[in-house]
Amino acid sequence: MPQMTGKCRMALLKIARMGHPVLVRRAAEVDDLLHPEIRRLAEDMIETMHDAAGAGLAAPQVHRSLRLFVYHVPPSRVRDGGTPIAPSVLINPVLTVLSEEKMSCTEGCLSLPGLRGVVQRHAHIAYEGYDLDGMHVSGEARGFHANVLQHECDHLDGILYPMRITDFSTFGFQEELAQATGGRS
Ligand code: NI
Repeated sequence: MPQMTGKCRMALLKIARMGHPVLVRRAAEVDDLLHPEIRRLAEDMIETMHDAAGAGLAAPQVHRSLRLFVYHVPPSRVRDGGTPIAPSVLINPVLTVLSEEKMSCTEGCLSLPGLRGVVQRHAHIAYEGYDLDGMHVSGEARGFHANVLQHECDHLDGILYPMRITDFSTFGFQEELAQATGGRS
């Protein structure tokens, strides 16, 4: 439901599902980092991400072919000494691989509701980009944080996680996979 509170109006955005052309094209750089529409879009994307119980959401998923995404690392997803990350925005992101080490990640995507699959991702990466104030941000990421960043950056290049699956026996409907593995989610 859209919220109406004074001047602050946020809205849930429609999420494109796999098959829509916007999901398989390269998104364009954001030229004007401080444009009010960019802030508005990012705020609506965070609302939409929370409403859909996702860990990340990229602009092409809401029919805007721009290089920005929102994400968070909730405490329930922290592992291996990582820390939770509050909802964040990364604009014009660039990732750099810091180690050849790979990790197996069970991924889902709001554009493929109900499905899960195992993807190999880089275990240790550096990221950089810009926030909504136009400030340059950078850091290193491992574990779930690194997983989310790679998944969301892929969206900006028109790549959906099934395109990276190598063992398709891991790909299927969450409810079926959960039963097969004793309720793991
Ligand atoms: Ni996704």
